[in-house]
Amino acid sequence: MTRPPRRFFIETWGCQMNELDTQRMAGQLMQQGLLPTREPEEADVLLLNSCSVRENAQNKVYSRIGEYRRLKRRGDVWIGLCGCVAQQEGEAALDRAPELDFVLGPARVGELREILDRRRSGERVVATGFPEERSFDIDSISRDGVYKGMVTCIEGCDKRCTFCIVPSTRGPERCRPMAEILQEVRHLVDYGFGEIELLGQTINHWREPDHGEATGADFADLLDAVAAVPGIERLRFITSYPRDFTERMIDAFARHEIISPYLHLPVQSGSNPVLRRMGRGYTVESYLELVDRIRAARPDVVFSTDIIVGFPGETEEQYGETVRLLERVRFGTVYAFKYSPRPGTAAPRLGGTVDPDVANRRLNELFAVQTEIQRELNRALVGETFQVIVTGWGKEPGFQTGRTPCHRMVNFEAGSAPADLGTMVEVAIDRAFPHSLVGRRVGEEGRPSGASSPLTVLSTG
Ligand code: SAH
Ligand code: F3S
Repeated sequence: MTRPPRRFFIETWGCQMNELDTQRMAGQLMQQGLLPTREPEEADVLLLNSCSVRENAQNKVYSRIGEYRRLKRRGDVWIGLCGCVAQQEGEAALDRAPELDFVLGPARVGELREILDRRRSGERVVATGFPEERSFDIDSISRDGVYKGMVTCIEGCDKRCTFCIVPSTRGPERCRPMAEILQEVRHLVDYGFGEIELLGQTINHWREPDHGEATGADFADLLDAVAAVPGIERLRFITSYPRDFTERMIDAFARHEIISPYLHLPVQSGSNPVLRRMGRGYTVESYLELVDRIRAARPDVVFSTDIIVGFPGETEEQYGETVRLLERVRFGTVYAFKYSPRPGTAAPRLGGTVDPDVANRRLNELFAVQTEIQRELNRALVGETFQVIVTGWGKEPGFQTGRTPCHRMVNFEAGSAPADLGTMVEVAIDRAFPHSLVGRRVGEEGRPSGASSPLTVLSTG
């Protein structure tokens, strides 16, 4: 590049970890004087932060690289492949997409600046793998969500679910020390973030890492410690692994009012033989028993889950058991996917491939059942009033969007004085749809979430 790059554009696919990695990359670029743009055509640096959890997601990133190829005709434009596809493909990505300038795996995000410097001197760098020392600079994160501060507590995953590529793309499990997590949470609260979201592939498997003075603290202790930080309005965490939930964690979840009554608890299937072949390590009965125990401790809890249909060997009867599980638990939201074979995972070797038409039909049927459940659950909320955190502007003019404590999406009329993003407002629910609620503001004006800011005047005259 003859002149330094001025603008960057990042496209993000996949999970919250990728969202946070995007914020980390954006922060590093802004520290170097680059500005974000919403238009790929204007960017000198384009980063594609990819997901490889299903084949579709992986294909999307390659077709996007193909679309961006023409932008290179404009002159010096760099395209970087980041995220899980970068880790999975490594050097092969450069062969498959010659227009790529560099490949940066998720565990190397902190090295973006160095990679760009090396690109400037003509190198095409592939940075993947899982170095022992990883840089994690909380001051160089561009927190673009004005209401939600995400905090990594665990990187990677040590489970070996037979369908899942994440352990090979995000590497072995590494817990961050509690002191570091708390420091970041306080920092976010000081900057006015009302909602804190703790992240990990198996967040409830968090343990104090064995750095000299091990305290033996586990996720229940972490919840207690984070919930005690003054100024947090709403605390959430994702994703919980069913087998790792303990009584103490249920107790902490029930005890702290600021913890959202919302729990994402992926079950994957409602059939024991399928769960066994998935290597999930729990049974349908133990999952249901856990749901009941959590509900008994915190009756207002709303569960969400992930489901895979068409897993190798899944029979019609076994699929039917998954539908019955949805009817039994009545989740607030279900993220359902058609099984997609992933390289390096064990499931493709299990045999019993399900016909894609059958898998599609099961997926559609399952969505239909779940939509009815959500319609009923949401209808029951009409007439209720919730504290809603304002998250953005609605699709219809004059409407704002927000989330209820149990994470349901609400559209409400902004009125003559729209609420600031990140503030809490009271919304009465007037109408309900399967995927959202519609309401109107009641009560007092929006109050700022997070820390209130005392005024300090540094005047010289
Ligand atoms: N621990 C993470 C898992 C990340 S993958 C979590 O629980 O959020 C997110 C979801 O993608 C999984 O729960 C699973 O339902 C789905 N998934 C993972 N691998 C898949 C595959 N090979 N095919 C279809 N869906 C898959
Ligand atoms: Fe994947 Fe299972 Fe870990 S779904 S991220 S291997 S808990």
